[in-house]
Amino acid sequence: MPETVSSTHPESPAPDGNDPRCIPHKLTKPLPIGDECRYPNYSAEEQDVWKTLYARMVELLPGRAADEFATGLHVLDLEKDRIPALADVSRKLYQATGWRICRTPGLLDAHDFFSYLAQRVFPSTDYIRARSELDYTPAPDCFHDIFGHTPMIVHPRFADFYQKLGQAALNCQDAATEEGLTRIYWFTVEFGLIQNADGLRIYGNGIISSSGETQNSLTHKVTKHPYTPERLAAQPYDIWHFQNPLFIIDSFDQLENEFVRWAKERALL
Ligand SMILES: [Fe+2]
Repeated sequence: MPETVSSTHPESPAPDGNDPRCIPHKLTKPLPIGDECRYPNYSAEEQDVWKTLYARMVELLPGRAADEFATGLHVLDLEKDRIPALADVSRKLYQATGWRICRTPGLLDAHDFFSYLAQRVFPSTDYIRARSELDYTPAPDCFHDIFGHTPMIVHPRFADFYQKLGQAALNCQDAATEEGLTRIYWFTVEFGLIQNADGLRIYGNGIISSSGETQNSLTHKVTKHPYTPERLAAQPYDIWHFQNPLFIIDSFDQLENEFVRWAKERALL
């Protein structure tokens, strides 16, 4: 399921097949985890790209991002002016939900990616997009992975759901069910919406790490349906355009419970 490990933004052009960031890595040795992740020697320009992206998104997120995402961002206390160290984020995540971070050189082979999720380890890149790619990247970068993904993994029920998604994917034997899982991943982890007490909010990081999607997703231009795993599994998606429709969960309890039911019915958990 390589799509599930892709983090392309919907407004991005077709990726250049020669871009090494777009070629999934099949691992031959384990990735560095937690304190084994060294802090790269980032240039001032790279640090400034992080600062620009962070400032832009924190401006957009109030009233749009889920309360649970905001809580996660607060708990992780990610640096605003400097790219956070994966080792530091990993330590905070471990304290919150027992998850750790490993450093991936780019897209991972689907089996490798889900193996890490199943062990409560999130593979994150540590390189950042170029300034010319502020609005899109052809592959994940650390703004997408750290700012977009890790705050939700602070939430205990989301953290459990994410691990179970990895476990279910590893147990999946047939192509049709695998496609269904890919779609569930896409419309939850990457593009999920939640009904918070104050209104409809975003928790999917494919939206949260994209300013265009963040501004588009809650508008009337997007059709929204209630979340059921069956419905998500049946919904095709197009990675090159703004996502429509989107699906709304009532709570992360519902997200996990319904997914576990669906997966058990298919002998995936
Ligand atoms: Fe992603």
